[in-house]
Amino acid sequence: MKEICLKTTSGESHIFCGSGALQTYFKTFQKSGGGIFVITDSTVAKLYKNTISEIFGSDAFIYVFPAGERSKNMNRLQDILRSMLAYGLKRSGCVVAFGGGVTGDIAGLAASIYMRGTRLIQIPTTLLSQVDSSVGGKTAVNFCGTKNVIGTFYQPETVIADQNFLDTLPAREVRCGLGEIIKYGALNKDIFEKLIKNRGNLKKIAFSEEIIYDCVLHKAKVVEKDEFDLSGERKSLNLGHTTAHALELGYGKKSHGEYVLIGLYYEAYIAKQLKICNESFADELVKLIT
Ligand code: NAD
Ligand code: GLY
Repeated sequence: MKEICLKTTSGESHIFCGSGALQTYFKTFQKSGGGIFVITDSTVAKLYKNTISEIFGSDAFIYVFPAGERSKNMNRLQDILRSMLAYGLKRSGCVVAFGGGVTGDIAGLAASIYMRGTRLIQIPTTLLSQVDSSVGGKTAVNFCGTKNVIGTFYQPETVIADQNFLDTLPAREVRCGLGEIIKYGALNKDIFEKLIKNRGNLKKIAFSEEIIYDCVLHKAKVVEKDEFDLSGERKSLNLGHTTAHALELGYGKKSHGEYVLIGLYYEAYIAKQLKICNESFADELVKLIT
């Protein structure tokens, strides 16, 4: 298991990465009193409810919402906050986001506003959320047809990216995560070279602790420089995403990561046509995507 410490204005966010990281980390987990409120979606609950109960104990509350991007809305957020109150979660209590990026975004937002902020642990279970969304503190719900427009910056105290969860991911979600990894390849020469070297078996490299750690480390360095997305540095992490968000809200049939892949493809193509990026680099990027 590898660890990254992301230093932010609000403190340190500790990111643990590796197969078995969850069991290892929770041997030392300190309950702070005030309750544990685990948020997960219906698909993840079916697969991992027993794991959640074993780790957090019977006094933890497990809130389950319908899986999918459609749940990332204000009504769901209100329902989560209502359940936190009914359960009696205190400010000293802990919110655990156990699932993919949708879970992480809405649970992070709930944790950041409930009683002006509770402890937050992110346990990402998709490839996309392990390499990207669980790290860096962006939380959000969609509102009035606009993606991620209501949200906060709220750093999780801990992120546990345990690759054992990836074993149950359907192929489509693997592709979504690959989209984010290829994005990091476009931003980071070392990651790009590793991907090119493993072009024949991208899934194997994508599931490796090494590449997930590389992507998280890249993101952590960017977030440390531009936590609140002000200087432009963090905007680089949105490569492919702006196109993706527009397509996602306009068409909405595919999942977020699939639109990111389409966004990366078109942005590479346009950059090549406009001669604002090296031609062979754009070609290699497109080959990785297709
Ligand atoms: P998701 O959370 O909807 O997960 C995708 C699907 O995989 C869901 O059906 C889920 O139930 C299922 N799933 C999750 N873990 C599983 C497992 N281990 N085995 C089997 N199935 C599993 O979507 P996502 O792709 O993880 O995340 C997309 C979201 O992340 C979008 O809403 C996007 O806006 C957000 N995002 C946020 C940031 C950020 O910085 N906060 C960055 C990128 C993306
Ligand atoms: N995924 C974009 C960001 O965290 O800024």
